[in-house]
Amino acid sequence: MVEAIRVPDIVPLEHILPDEPLLMMGAGPVPIPAAVAAANSIVINHLGDTMNQVIAQVKEMGRYVFQTSSSHVMGVGGPGSAAMEMAIANLVHPGDKVLCICNGYFSKRMAEMVSRVRGEPTLLHIDNNESASVELVQRELAKGNYAAITLVQGETSNTVCNHSLGSIARMAHEHGCLVIVDAVCTLSTMALDMDAWQVDAVITGGQKGLSSIPGVSLLAFSEHAWAKKIASRSHQPYHWCLDAQLADQFWNQKSYHYTAPVSGILALHEALRLVCAETLPRRFARHQQCSEALQAGIEALGLALLVPKQHRLNSVIGIVTPDHVSSDVVRAHMSRVHKVEISGAFGLNILRIGQMGEQSRAHNLFRTLHAFGSSMQAGGASLDLPAGMAELERSLSRHAIAQGAS
Ligand SMILES: Cc1ncc(COP(=O)(O)O)c(C=O)c1O
Repeated sequence: MVEAIRVPDIVPLEHILPDEPLLMMGAGPVPIPAAVAAANSIVINHLGDTMNQVIAQVKEMGRYVFQTSSSHVMGVGGPGSAAMEMAIANLVHPGDKVLCICNGYFSKRMAEMVSRVRGEPTLLHIDNNESASVELVQRELAKGNYAAITLVQGETSNTVCNHSLGSIARMAHEHGCLVIVDAVCTLSTMALDMDAWQVDAVITGGQKGLSSIPGVSLLAFSEHAWAKKIASRSHQPYHWCLDAQLADQFWNQKSYHYTAPVSGILALHEALRLVCAETLPRRFARHQQCSEALQAGIEALGLALLVPKQHRLNSVIGIVTPDHVSSDVVRAHMSRVHKVEISGAFGLNILRIGQMGEQSRAHNLFRTLHAFGSSMQAGGASLDLPAGMAELERSLSRHAIAQGAS
């Protein structure tokens, strides 16, 4: 055979990847525990007794993490966005009016997904890096006959948290709306009580709070939403892969939908197992204590946080880059010299440091704050690095959990 396309010159991975892996302290993906990495290296049959036992446990642990007794917990082979699209494709029918609360980039993505499945989104923009208030949402709900609302718990893009999520969800339910929540960066880092708050779909990715791998995601539908929009539907959703009825064959009926990403599901199993071992209250406390200590350290350096405390997300911290300093230069210096990676932002002049899953460990905070402060100085910022490190130490030492004590 004559090869029309020649064999490409390929550089082996070992020459592409850095000798020393970067500490991933950005907005995700985050570092994964050894048990998750080990599980991710295994391939088993996607059907059969072994996989059935794994799936049963993933669902059971998912119910704990989502705080729901719903029987409709399922995974999806795809990014967090695929889980968002699965929730929307199954709960929004053509012509449904949907109120999309938009705090930033990811909440707007849900509005776009609503229009792609032929729903009719109304965008409620929340400006100035603020959380959505119950009053504002209530006023908007009173105007229209909405079938659903979408909102994000934590808006990773600008580090705003919708702290009133529970009250908004309950109120929207009273208006007859289904409530679809993106908890991609927040699940298992802060409270989300799906059943108590009457949320109808919760979406998460693997690569953030759960400290698993990207590309395998988890979501839950309430029994109410399942009965109202999925079990009794009269039309088929546009997406075959994301059809919840078909997915149910795999997740609840031990049969085939598509070949599940077995290694990623095994990784997710281990990530969830570690969440269960830690327990949610302790995990929330660890995240809060670590994030607040890091925030205090950053402010003691002399830098400003983007979002005021009452609207601020703890899972991802947004730091204002001083005017004469380049965010790109700071990030490049951190990666090259300190082997610590953080994130830039979506058009905002901020740098973002994650506090999700394994990122929220005292040793990672010390390394990151030092690398950040000294890279800021190298980039031309004038700040007090010893004061920042001392404040981090002081703040962490007040909290036994953040230090790893049991
Ligand atoms: C809040 C939020 N929603 C959705 C997504 C989309 O997740 P993915 O990139 O895995 O599709 C992200 C990713 O950063 C996110 O932070």
